[in-house]
Amino acid sequence: MSSKYHMLDKSHGHVKPTTTITKKIKICILHLLKGLLNSPVTFFKSSCSIIYVALFIIVLLILNGQPKSIFPPKAHIPWLTNVHHVQPLECIADMNQPGWPRPVLSNDKSDMNLTVVTVSARPEFKRLPVTMAALLSHLDSRRITEVMFLVPPQDVHLLQPYFSSEQVKSWPWRVSVISDNILLKHIHTTSYRLQMMFKLFVAQIVKTEHYLILDSDCVAVWPIHVEQLLHQNKNSSLYQAINHAEGRSSHEKWWSESERLLQIKLESCVSYDKSDTDIPTIGVTPSILSRTIALRTLCRLQKLYGDEIFLNKMANWALWREIFGYMWTEYTLYFLTGRCTKIFDTYHTDNSALSSSNSIARVELTGFSIWSHLDWTVKNQNKLIESIHNGLRWRQKETDEANGQAITDKSTSMHNLFAVLQGRHNVDPKLYHQYFYPLYIKYLQQQKQSDKLILILNNMTRKLAINKH
Ligand SMILES: *[C@@H]1O[C@H](CO)[C@@H](O)[C@H](O)[C@H]1NC(C)=O
Ligand SMILES: *[C@@H]1O[C@H](CO)[C@@H](O)[C@H](O)[C@H]1NC(C)=O
Ligand SMILES: *[C@@H]1O[C@H](CO)[C@@H](O)[C@H](O)[C@H]1NC(C)=O
Repeated sequence: MSSKYHMLDKSHGHVKPTTTITKKIKICILHLLKGLLNSPVTFFKSSCSIIYVALFIIVLLILNGQPKSIFPPKAHIPWLTNVHHVQPLECIADMNQPGWPRPVLSNDKSDMNLTVVTVSARPEFKRLPVTMAALLSHLDSRRITEVMFLVPPQDVHLLQPYFSSEQVKSWPWRVSVISDNILLKHIHTTSYRLQMMFKLFVAQIVKTEHYLILDSDCVAVWPIHVEQLLHQNKNSSLYQAINHAEGRSSHEKWWSESERLLQIKLESCVSYDKSDTDIPTIGVTPSILSRTIALRTLCRLQKLYGDEIFLNKMANWALWREIFGYMWTEYTLYFLTGRCTKIFDTYHTDNSALSSSNSIARVELTGFSIWSHLDWTVKNQNKLIESIHNGLRWRQKETDEANGQAITDKSTSMHNLFAVLQGRHNVDPKLYHQYFYPLYIKYLQQQKQSDKLILILNNMTRKLAINKH
């Protein structure tokens, strides 16, 4: 998947709404500017133009209020936006880097284990049966502290039946459904920004240094073992997470906007060389984050804009520029913080740096995926089915020969762990369910002690995937 294609169709696991409206607005702005520049006096004298300007502002506000993501629609009204945190963000000054306070972290954490976090909401729940069936097939429970769903408070009850105290006994890992209002309480906020904020704020409650962020559309296609995701650094004994390094150029507008929000000189911490080979940065969901860097990002913003005020700053930041594709994102803020404070390499490692040690397989979080309806061809459907079959065959081999522990596939140098099956506006998720769910269920049926889980998954399918909301 080229990064260019990535840029066009993917923004953090979510298809942006059709851009035709945006195009019309751009043309409208051009007309307005032309009128303004050609004859400013007559322009302002004409009451008609004033009406246009007023209409334009109203349209702008309405557009920004459109739910671009998975949270319930509630118009984003900048002057009514109110976001506040539930657990205060505690930060302490860093003598060496006065502009970048460090988070105060509790000690109850594990460096060697991993937490899996899915930020989801009701409109996305129909994707969960296949996502969960895939995770149940592939996620090795060793060194998994918890699989966590962060969902809006009004949606918790929809997932609870599958993760009640009676049901959790059947799941191979600890699994919990957490109401997102234990982190942030919010009204009149663009949902898309909230989702990005939650991906950083969840660091306040995870009990491991690293956490894997998944969206509801990330479907596991190859066995997932923590020892292939977190590598112990021989020098420092710290664990470093693999990072899917993408160049900055594929999302340049996100980078410059994030630099503005963080108030750092453009390209000072992360350089950008258009002509040269791209300098590796960070990709999009799925991604592994370090809670130290995530919270340090928030500490910086809190210092810059003030306690709590920074939350509304993030929510309302440069709304009008978003129309032109400029927006801060959680991953660009995170990476910039990691680089400016020089701690990124403490918590992350580049996949290419691992190639020398052949004892552990190299994996990438994502590879072949469906980004738009154009990708949903018979050829690609078969390609996905084949890759799911291959992955499950390998997982079965691990179960049979190594008690479920990793067996390195020496026939290839790299495996992709997840396929992103996007499509809220493109491919109906029911099709994904119809094509891929049976493959995972067939595998699970051959496993020991999976009867109860299959009943739970089938119940999820009946309630979430087949019923429409
Ligand atoms: C890591 O997770 C496993 C469960 O997968 C658990 O048994 C173990 O105690 C955890 N280790 C730490 C240090 O938290
Ligand atoms: C370990 O330290 C040595 C010497 O300081 C350095 O050359 C090497 O790159 C370090 N290795 C890792 C994995 O950081
Ligand atoms: C599945 O749903 C049925 C009816 O809705 C319920 O009686 C049953 O206990 C559920 N089974 C599991 C394993 O959740």
